Amino acid sequence: MDLSSKIRDVKFKNPVLLASGCFGRDTLRFTDVSELGGVITKSVTLKPREGNPPPRIFETPCGVINSIGLANPGVDGFVSDELPEILFCDTNVIASIAGEDIAEYTELARAFEQTGVLGIEVNLSCPNVEKGGLVFGKHPGTVRKIIEDVRSISSKLVIAKLPPLFENKAIVSAAEDGGADAISLINTIPALALNIDTGELEIGGVGGGLSGPAIKPVALYCVYNAIKNTNLPVIGVGGIMTAKDALEFLLLGASMVEIGTGVLVDPKIGNKVVKGIEEYFKKEGIKNIAEFQRRSRLEL
Ligand SMILES: Cc1cc2nc3c(=O)[nH]c(=O)nc-3n(C[C@H](O)[C@H](O)[C@H](O)COP(=O)(O)O)c2cc1C
Repeated sequence: MDLSSKIRDVKFKNPVLLASGCFGRDTLRFTDVSELGGVITKSVTLKPREGNPPPRIFETPCGVINSIGLANPGVDGFVSDELPEILFCDTNVIASIAGEDIAEYTELARAFEQTGVLGIEVNLSCPNVEKGGLVFGKHPGTVRKIIEDVRSISSKLVIAKLPPLFENKAIVSAAEDGGADAISLINTIPALALNIDTGELEIGGVGGGLSGPAIKPVALYCVYNAIKNTNLPVIGVGGIMTAKDALEFLLLGASMVEIGTGVLVDPKIGNKVVKGIEEYFKKEGIKNIAEFQRRSRLEL
């Protein structure tokens, strides 16, 4: 059986990645990430960011709302202090970058050029500080420019990570025209939680982003539309807690999947999902992902 997946010239041993922002040093200590397709590091900005005031995570009946606010030590601090430990883990490492304005993305990508990361996931779900907080990933021209700029200086895989957009043809095409090697989606869905006793929000910052099982059907919808609209490999993200969830994205036509919130619940979830996919393929006599995808009756 062959669970491998390919993006450009890079072969991943299986299609399971840990999503950006959802694993830390502890996760790496408790799990064998060398069994996974790879990991995507938390998004870094050019300068260090303290992030949003607490509380930063609020649990809902079927997922979590986070309001981390991209807290990170800045790209230089990350590359010198945190990345070496992650690269030591004998797995494919993809670095996530988040610019506060368009020009920052190029500088961020450049900072990883001489490192051992395999790829850059360009987080296009963050607000453009210069443009009063408009989300980069909602504007085709901006997406194209950012991806083109990153592509022009980076030899690594370039993955465009998109926000949840239902009709995403223009955005997906912009990422493809800009030279992306793959598209990943979705990031969290904007969300609020209120406390009726205090009258305040349950999370710091101005609202947050919903993730976890609640968003899986929305993610499947967005991923399906992206697959219809591009020839690039698409990486499905959103609400994956089991091998069955991952298989749903693969059946749609996704090349790979990312697991985020699931890691907060169970640090070993990635390994369990890989094992579950293996067991399912074995039981069904399926040899590889392409053969499994031929079972789909969806029109693409
Ligand atoms: C606590 C937390 C932090 C996150 N941080 C990032 C981040 O730094 N960069 C990013 O692109 N996505 C970030 N995400 C979004 C996830 O990578 C993922 O796209 C989203 O949560 C949906 O997947 P899930 O339902 O499996 O969590 C974060 C999500 C959570 C829950």
